Amino acid sequence: MNKFKLQTLSGMHDVLPDDQKYFQKITKAVESVANYYSFSKIETPILEMTDVFLKAVGQGTDIVEKEMYSFKTKGGDLVSLRPEGTAPVVRSYIENGMHNLPQPVKLWYMGPFFRYERPQAGRFRQFHQFGFEILGESGASIDGQVIQMSYDILKELSFKNTTIQVNSIGDSECRPYFKKVLTSYLKSKKSSLCSDCQRRLKENPLRVLDCKEEKCQVVKAGAPQIVDHLCEACHAHFKQVLEFLDELELPYSLNPYLVRGLDYYTKTVFEIVENSEEGGSLGALIGGGRYDNLAKMLGGRDVPACGSAAGIERIVSLMKQRDVKTAKVEEPEIFLAQLGLMAKKKSLKLFEEFRKAKIPMAESFSKDSLRAQLRSANKMGVKWVLIFGQKEALENFVTVRDMETGTQQEIKLDEVVEEMKKKLKK
Ligand code: HAM
Repeated sequence: MNKFKLQTLSGMHDVLPDDQKYFQKITKAVESVANYYSFSKIETPILEMTDVFLKAVGQGTDIVEKEMYSFKTKGGDLVSLRPEGTAPVVRSYIENGMHNLPQPVKLWYMGPFFRYERPQAGRFRQFHQFGFEILGESGASIDGQVIQMSYDILKELSFKNTTIQVNSIGDSECRPYFKKVLTSYLKSKKSSLCSDCQRRLKENPLRVLDCKEEKCQVVKAGAPQIVDHLCEACHAHFKQVLEFLDELELPYSLNPYLVRGLDYYTKTVFEIVENSEEGGSLGALIGGGRYDNLAKMLGGRDVPACGSAAGIERIVSLMKQRDVKTAKVEEPEIFLAQLGLMAKKKSLKLFEEFRKAKIPMAESFSKDSLRAQLRSANKMGVKWVLIFGQKEALENFVTVRDMETGTQQEIKLDEVVEEMKKKLKK
């Protein structure tokens, strides 16, 4: 049996108070872009039937094969912690009859996801994503919109050095033929592939193009490219997407080997990467693409769609390294010091009155000596200390001390909020 250790599980972490400000800044940026583009928020459960991911993400993918946290419930259902958000959103779209709403339906989400991956830089077993999904629209303009929104959010978060890598992986019309062409090329180079790719060759030859092993790079460099084998419809769609990106003046580059690790994609796929050294080692910050067949794969009707999702921890890690400014918490200018039991009791009420008046105030209810409290006030650099001792509590007044001049003034308890407002010019 494993020895019990009092620590988070490998690949999981606490989001500590010091990190919350980064999460808040990201949430604010995402919310504001989502609202502007009329996206509605959706929250799906963290647990789904395993079948949702088997059917959508695909049997032969790393996520389904190796990375899902799956278990049987007491009722005998096979369920999984969600490894990604697109399949649950499409499940919800079908289940809730969202095809009856005006199309396209635009949804965004944010929350924890789980993948049993080997923990390393930028790769966790519990991580957070925010994502956008546009469902019920086949036009290339929404591919452009999803890419633009994803890029803009990173820009808003002070990322100046990102590139959008794009590719088209075709659809059920042209991909099967390309797979044949690719497989026959890869077979001729089989002995030069890594062992994983030799296996992939049979199950999922496209994934060989995505392999990061050095051995496979040489094989990849001579491989046929899917963009040369797109059917007319996919070709025209891809051309339009690129025209939108040109029009939007977005910095993109064509990556003929970008295939993405999920089976539901059709046509456009993209990833946004950070070009700096630290960013490169983290992997993509955002990934997405079009998934016109996903609703059908889950048993629904045809629902053309496109979306993207971002890895929040990867973004936070770069924001921290660069010391990206986060919103300052309003620093209080007043400190409430209290002395004695009666004052302590009454000061809780006084503190609440200041909160209602939206005046930030610091306190240290746990410290007993006035000296210790004044020391805390000094450290915080507040301008005023409200001293509320035995005498003050009995006679219902507060002694207000100006920390810069050292002068003191007595103010009636029921007037102190208004008086302090005047002093703060609120
Ligand atoms: P994905 O590429 O698997 O796509 O994940 C999106 C982003 O989540 C990645 O670019 C990365 O930043 C982050 N991410 C993924 N795995 C981890 C991990 N183990 N630790 C930390 N961050 C991670 C999807 O999930 C699709 N659902 C995206 C999408 C939405 N496609 C269409 N709509």
